[in-house]
Amino acid sequence: MRNTFPSIDRNARTFILLALIWAMSFLFLQNVQAETPEDLLRKEKEVREQMQILSRQLGVTCASCHDTRNYKSSKKPLYPISLEHMKITQVLIDQGFDGKNGKPKADCYMCHRGKLSPDYKERIHPMTEIKKSNEKKPEDKEEFEP
Ligand code: HEC
Ligand code: HEC
Repeated sequence: MRNTFPSIDRNARTFILLALIWAMSFLFLQNVQAETPEDLLRKEKEVREQMQILSRQLGVTCASCHDTRNYKSSKKPLYPISLEHMKITQVLIDQGFDGKNGKPKADCYMCHRGKLSPDYKERIHPMTEIKKSNEKKPEDKEEFEP
């Protein structure tokens, strides 16, 4: 067999090999330790705090979006929409609505104002300035209440 380290004797090689195995197992253990129960609890707490803020900003409860027996489930219709809107919100933050240097920071409240269905269309026609209250189309459902 070809000797990779011809100048190192057999004992030294065995020692180096053992040292390497020891170092690698140490690294492996460190990785496992990175996720202590405390870390997981802290993450869980952070998620819950975020979720409470988001619920308040939309004026809904956890059960509006979640199957409360399985928070990972995406079965409720509002869940995938929320995921989309989380992405939109992140894009806004990345594009400058980041709360730095006196700028506003994008969040759900910025558009939703405490309502699940925000008033996102003007109450009047933007060009003619005619109130649209008596031309209710299905998509205009809860819009033009005075
Ligand atoms: C408007 C919809 C909405 C409301 C209200 C909401 N959530 Fe969520 N929640 C989500 C979405 C969407 C995700 C997934 C986020 C992701 O994957 O980045 C999520 C993720 C979570 C997770 C992590 C689940 C996992 O994958 O491990 C927990 C726990 C959770 N929510 C708890 C709550 C609690 C508790 C409340 C009430 C205080 C709540 N949520 C209110 C939409 C909502
Ligand atoms: C840039 C503005 C904007 C931001 C930011 C925003 N949303 Fe929305 N969202 C809307 C608009 C507008 C609608 C209504 C769309 C419609 O009625 O067709 C809506 C609708 C929704 C709906 C569906 C409501 C329904 O009745 O079906 C959910 C759920 C939702 N948003 C969740 C979120 C969450 C969670 C956040 C924060 C992470 C968020 N949105 C941030 C603009 C926004």
